[in-house]
Amino acid sequence: MTGSKRNNTPTKTWMYMGRGAAVLLATSLGFGCQNNATKPEQGTSTAAKKPVVELPPFEAAATPERVADGAKLVETFECSRCHDGTELKPAPLNKHCVHCHQEIHAGTFDQADAATQAEWKANIIHLTRVPELAGTARFRRSWLATFLQAPHDLRPGLDAEMPRLKLEPAQAEAVAAFLVPAAEQTPEVDWAAADTRHGKLLLKHKGCMTCHKFSGAGELPAGELAVPVDEATLRQGTRMAPDLRFTRDRMRPSALLTWLQDPQKLKPTTLMPDFDLSPTQARDIAAFLLTTKLEAVDPPAIPERLPVLTRPVHYPEVEAKVFKKICWHCHSDPDYALGDGGPGNTGGFGFHPRYLNLASYEGISSGFVNDKGERESVFKKLPDGTPRVVAQMMARYAEVAGQPVDGLRGMPMGLPPMTLEEIQLVDTWISQGRPR
Ligand code: HEC
Ligand code: HEC
Ligand code: HEC
Ligand code: HEC
Repeated sequence: MTGSKRNNTPTKTWMYMGRGAAVLLATSLGFGCQNNATKPEQGTSTAAKKPVVELPPFEAAATPERVADGAKLVETFECSRCHDGTELKPAPLNKHCVHCHQEIHAGTFDQADAATQAEWKANIIHLTRVPELAGTARFRRSWLATFLQAPHDLRPGLDAEMPRLKLEPAQAEAVAAFLVPAAEQTPEVDWAAADTRHGKLLLKHKGCMTCHKFSGAGELPAGELAVPVDEATLRQGTRMAPDLRFTRDRMRPSALLTWLQDPQKLKPTTLMPDFDLSPTQARDIAAFLLTTKLEAVDPPAIPERLPVLTRPVHYPEVEAKVFKKICWHCHSDPDYALGDGGPGNTGGFGFHPRYLNLASYEGISSGFVNDKGERESVFKKLPDGTPRVVAQMMARYAEVAGQPVDGLRGMPMGLPPMTLEEIQLVDTWISQGRPR
């Protein structure tokens, strides 16, 4: 689906030579492209077998005003509480979701003793690594603006996702301009000579699929890694490797070619190994990544919620298994957490304060502040009878499936959905009148 969007526009086919980014369109032979009504009109006899190049809109340099707006918005939306590398100073440790978790994992967090850190470490799973926002000029600005408004899972090995923030389209475009200020480069490459079958073979011979998935592209054997990769890099690299399905939308073709030949040139800290690919090998792999037919991939199913339990459920159980397991890390008690109640309480990530404290019975009972500035109960029944807080946890499943629910932000924000049993527990507790 991702790849087909672009093919909706009537295509003129070009042998790529001139300015602008190149998108390869597979022709009818072998690559099964949906839009093959237009046949290449090229002189060479092999032309029909070769991928043909379409010129998508060339991305010119962003205006300095836009870039400056974007820089401000990156600060307002506190991107540096999770991401490094934005050229802005990182959030302080007591607000930095990733740095604090990393320090605790490394045992270097100086505000707690070793035993406490060891105990915490065992509990911290999420937000210990997020992609660094360095070398972002490799992305297509248009993709970035879309992704920021409707983020989806890019890395199958990474459990946290980019949170769905409240960025207006113009704001997302400004942030994208800040991250991708430059004009697109023109790749000097003879796409017409590209051999996608060779590109596909190389993925196997170099062992690319050891770390990557390429969903919808059919069977691609893992092969054996062609360069030595130490165990730690392999583990983290597998976690951080994007699904190559999105690459054709994400990356500027010129940057893709550079990336394949020398990833560290674009992003010095990347875990992607340098395979020392030749320009020809890079071109063939790029041609395969850009043109191979992608089957539709079923999104994860949106489950039904479970019926309430018949056994009694009291607050300590819901607190331990839900609210204090996950929720209070963003909805905490500001008195406990040095004045910062987290983005879901005292505000953050560009959200106004909702003053929702999920760290105590009293906090939960006093609800949140809605858009009108009034206190609203999180237990309030929605028109279908579902208590709001339960609906919001179910809405996270819908978000993960790419179908966000209007007016209900999925919780926990940007993290895997709570299990159906955990949601059932909250549901049961509310249905029983929320006993202490
Ligand atoms: C709560 C933490 C968090 C915050 C805050 C956050 N992000 Fe992210 N972001 C993530 C995670 C996690 C991913 C990885 C998602 C994936 O790979 O599926 C991500 C991915 C991205 C990516 C894709 C990068 C790549 O290499 O694939 C971009 C771009 C991005 N975020 C930009 C932003 C911007 C801009 C902001 C601020 C407006 C922001 N993020 C705020 C957690 C966060
Ligand atoms: C000052 C350090 C610190 C900061 C800052 C911090 N955390 Fe944590 N976080 C912790 C500790 C410590 C734990 C483990 C607590 C425990 O064991 O009960 C934890 C646990 C978690 C958990 C539950 C365990 C897991 O991995 O699922 C989540 C979710 C979480 N944090 C999210 C966040 C988010 C989101 C932010 C940024 C808004 C954040 N944290 C900022 C220290 C921090
Ligand atoms: C050790 C694991 C590992 C191996 C092996 C590996 N990669 Fe990667 N690759 C990564 C990681 C991690 C990233 C994400 C880089 C980042 O954001 O820093 C990446 C990024 C990419 C990207 C950019 C995708 C995007 O949408 O952003 C492409 C293309 C790519 N790799 C192709 C390949 C090819 C081709 C091979 C084999 C020649 C290969 N990779 C082998 C880990 C790996
Ligand atoms: C990563 C941070 C984060 C985590 C974890 C998180 N929340 Fe939130 N939550 C927020 C933010 C930010 C808002 C404000 C959203 C807005 O203003 O639209 C919010 C708002 C809410 C609201 C108020 C209604 C609304 O949409 O504004 C409820 C209810 C809520 N969260 C419940 C939960 C529950 C239940 C959990 C645990 C299952 C949870 N949250 C975990 C960040 C988080």
